[in-house]
Amino acid sequence: MIPVTKPYLPNREKLNRYLDGIYERNWLTNNGPLAQELTSRLEKYLGVENLLLVSNGTLALQITYRALGINKPANGKPAEAITTPFTFIATASSLKWDGVRPVFADIDPETWCLAPKNIEARVTSQTRAIVPVHVFGNACDVEAIGAIAQKHNLKVIYDASHAFGVNYKGESLLKHGDAATLSFHATKLFHTVEGGAVIFKHKEDLERAKKMINFGITAPESIEELGINAKMNELQAAMGLCVLDEIEQISDVRKSVTDAYNHFLEGKLQKQQIQVGASYNHAYYPVALENEGKVIELMSSLRDSGVFARRYFYPSLDSVAALEATSTVCPESRKLAERIVCLPIYSGLKAEEIEMISKKVSEVAE
Ligand SMILES: Cc1ncc(COP(=O)(O)O)c(C=O)c1O
Repeated sequence: MIPVTKPYLPNREKLNRYLDGIYERNWLTNNGPLAQELTSRLEKYLGVENLLLVSNGTLALQITYRALGINKPANGKPAEAITTPFTFIATASSLKWDGVRPVFADIDPETWCLAPKNIEARVTSQTRAIVPVHVFGNACDVEAIGAIAQKHNLKVIYDASHAFGVNYKGESLLKHGDAATLSFHATKLFHTVEGGAVIFKHKEDLERAKKMINFGITAPESIEELGINAKMNELQAAMGLCVLDEIEQISDVRKSVTDAYNHFLEGKLQKQQIQVGASYNHAYYPVALENEGKVIELMSSLRDSGVFARRYFYPSLDSVAALEATSTVCPESRKLAERIVCLPIYSGLKAEEIEMISKKVSEVAE
């Protein structure tokens, strides 16, 4: 069976040594030494400051909305945030969960990210924030989005769950926006089994969020904020430290899988147009086929050979009733969602498997 992705398992002896330390200290959670070490090592590796580890990427978004105050009603009505419909459900459901109405603006059909030109028409007196996604690790048009946010006095929170290690114009992409969130789910390029992080622009937002992830408790007898439990534990941090040691190797393997697919599939399918000036982390291998019929044909042909590609991201979130978003339909996102397939990419995927998958894709694409 070839799944779309496989969690990366780092060196076992090294993980055992971290576990020995955890047993010796008997310190399992609540900002332990491994969580502290991972925080500083990630800040260094990513070239960022004000990084806060949390227990998953969804809570990273939720804590950020609250730390930046975008969940507060605006003009006596529920707050709104403008976001993309072409993403994983958590981007929009986390808003809704926290009392912020998601308002969808359509994507750019080439980059597949939120199109700046579609944002302004969605701004109302209730809008508090823009929540774009660097989808599949492709950098959004951060300059144009920043200018719109400044004009309308809005916060920008990038869901950067896919953009671990991506640079833009020589600096970390995660420095853009008032905050950027990461997911360290087991299937991600870098992972801590479950986990996530927020990179805040301002230290005071980091400090508020630090209290929020530990129930608002600041001392044994002091509760300063409304909080929740979103702490990363020591076992998660241990896994993260081990994976981080091998991250260059993981990235190189993903790049070689991408190169191999490109070799077989060049010119046969629509690919995502990567933002000029941005690096690419090869976390995914998404392709867009001509129409939904071809997607269904390909999925079935792959399944016959034990290959489980995935329709990421389908459906387009502007069609998900549970989100109770405004009734705007986003045609570009819907068209893409019908045509998209993510091909398997992970360490350990063999050259002959890539060739076999590419052959099947080519047969359907032609
Ligand atoms: C774009 C995006 N946002 C948010 C999340 C949620 O992250 P997590 O699964 O760590 O809660 C994911 C993850 O899988 C994602 O792909």
